[in-house]
Amino acid sequence: MIQKYVFGTPFETDAVITPIPAAQGRPPFGMISLEEGFSFTYTMEKDDIIYGLGEANRGINKRGYCYISNCTDDPEHLEDKRSFYGAHNFLILSGQSDRTSQDAPRTFGLFIDYPGKLTFDIGYTRQDLLRIACDDPDLYLYVIDGPSPYDIVKQFRQIIGRSYIPPKFAFGYGQSRWGYKDQKDFRRVAEGYRKNHLPIDMLYMDIDYMDRYKDFTVSKERFDDFKAFVQEMKDQDIRLIPIIDAGIKIEPGDPVYEEGLQKGFFCQKEDGTPFVAAVWPGYTHFTDVLDPDARAWFGSNYRFLTDMGIEGFWNDMNEPAIFFTPEGVDEVKALMQRFIDNDDPNANWDAAQEEKVTVAQLQAALKGIGNRPEDYASFYHKVDGRLVRHDKVHNLYGYNMTRAAGEAFEKIAPNKRILLFSRSSYIGMHRYGGIWTGDNKSWWSHILLNLKMLPSLNMCGFLYIGADLGGFGADTTRDLLLRWLALGVFTPLMRNHAAIGTREQECYQFENLEDLRHILGVRYRLIPYLYSEYMKAALDGDLYFKPLAFVYPDDRMALQVEDQLMLGGEIMIAPVYTQNASGRYVYLPEEMMFIKFLPDGTIRQEVLEKGHHYVEIALNEVPLFIRKGACIPVAEAAEHVAAVDTEHLTLLGYEGASYVLYEDDGLCRDPKVQGSRRTLHR
Ligand code: NOJ
Repeated sequence: MIQKYVFGTPFETDAVITPIPAAQGRPPFGMISLEEGFSFTYTMEKDDIIYGLGEANRGINKRGYCYISNCTDDPEHLEDKRSFYGAHNFLILSGQSDRTSQDAPRTFGLFIDYPGKLTFDIGYTRQDLLRIACDDPDLYLYVIDGPSPYDIVKQFRQIIGRSYIPPKFAFGYGQSRWGYKDQKDFRRVAEGYRKNHLPIDMLYMDIDYMDRYKDFTVSKERFDDFKAFVQEMKDQDIRLIPIIDAGIKIEPGDPVYEEGLQKGFFCQKEDGTPFVAAVWPGYTHFTDVLDPDARAWFGSNYRFLTDMGIEGFWNDMNEPAIFFTPEGVDEVKALMQRFIDNDDPNANWDAAQEEKVTVAQLQAALKGIGNRPEDYASFYHKVDGRLVRHDKVHNLYGYNMTRAAGEAFEKIAPNKRILLFSRSSYIGMHRYGGIWTGDNKSWWSHILLNLKMLPSLNMCGFLYIGADLGGFGADTTRDLLLRWLALGVFTPLMRNHAAIGTREQECYQFENLEDLRHILGVRYRLIPYLYSEYMKAALDGDLYFKPLAFVYPDDRMALQVEDQLMLGGEIMIAPVYTQNASGRYVYLPEEMMFIKFLPDGTIRQEVLEKGHHYVEIALNEVPLFIRKGACIPVAEAAEHVAAVDTEHLTLLGYEGASYVLYEDDGLCRDPKVQGSRRTLHR
């Protein structure tokens, strides 16, 4: 049962697409205050678990910290961070015991459809208090009642619409690096993979393919005939996937800039002039993607690249990230001038008096020049003829940039699926594209963070997801990459991406590359199963990744497991995420078949009893667990998705088990019509 409560005049985000009549009054439980903005306060029982929040920090159980929905370009994903790139305001309280005082169901879900900054204090200020708060009392509050968290998630997924379905090739492995500059670089990487028989389907193009970081351009110096180059790569079964950034470079004479300006499609300041922000190309304007005409225009520009044979994109910098604004620069300059005028060698940390400016103040001013709240509050969107200040709807920008592309693709390629994922997002965007979780680091702790985010993102509708495998920032190591890839084998988006200036981390850069070949090969062996489970989750509004608790709700131990996940209907994954470990502890909530894909191509199977086990997993092995009585289809390893032989599948798992395999051509937009499900018996 879903109740929708309306407070004030909410902004229509289009996150929910099923009409739901507004309920009268207020929710029968929790305390709502409209005194200062909006707040919902609820006293949690000691053992309540909180799920959800999508792309957020810390655990699968979100209890014990404070999270802020405020899409932020922050590459330092440390444990104390409260905001990442996405804003996913859906949570589920899963009660383990009857309520003692409140007239609340044991388990309920909340979706706060509010596009501005929203705080979720989940037992941070006071361990037993859940407090959700924002500045403006204008929002929709959806309260979902159901017998279990899993059921609540399914109800929620019904009202937000079907998750994005990528083309099948997007289930292959992709290599990326910020720093591949020209066709020579891409040829070298393609050769590194193909020559070494390392499977690959996609090469990602970061900002350097463009003409001076201008969207919808390709550098002529670096690619003499881009269309031919796209084809050259396709002839090797590799698709090029270019990046598109949010900001349009201010460059008189440039046709995209001129058209956007002339049509008034850029976000404006109060004085009616377009807002200016520096990103990679220097000063840019942000397209007003909340205005349907401007959105359609932005999307139509993708045609420039689809016309050259491009079949996929990643949308970046769309929080939108601001390196600095002219106003911010002026403020720093003024501070600097005061520092120069009153330079005092004795000025120290405490000497910040009227005239004197300390070095520390200068440092802070420079550090804070990007993504300033005052800049986000200084420009406007046109919505239904009225102006809406950006910070009030900040969390919708990445969503609507990606929606611009998604809506355009329906026109550009009505019968074809196009690969699309974004850095910033809000619920609703899951219908148009996937997500990669941004600038992580080559840290062991980030493998675990990656794993924990996966089910939470699924709950919010985002199914096509993945992290930068091997780590984006910092130098990777061979063992870390191998372990991270062994998790990436299971994530729908499997992409190795690294930052400029870091150690090269393409699979062929490391010794004994047969180990890497093997791990990638396992991905391709599993594609029939992974694709089938992805499609079922998308078409049926189900989860691809689930916490163990969703499947074994009565198992007290399973409720606590945060480093193993259920995937699809048949398997459990338990990757190794610690340095120098030769295996790990796992908890089995029931008897399962422990499977290891060994580097010699064979598969080791062992039935393990319910309970705790230590399992040995070498660096070059991929483990998974098949649920009691189940089986999964496995293909032979292949070097790209189209080469996976789906005719000759082996069924791995329990004797007598059967598996329902979903299949389609992997390209057509309407999979419900094209797809088929057939039962395979072991
Ligand atoms: C930031 C993105 O998160 C990263 O993946 C990309 O490499 C850089 N921008 C450069 O485009």
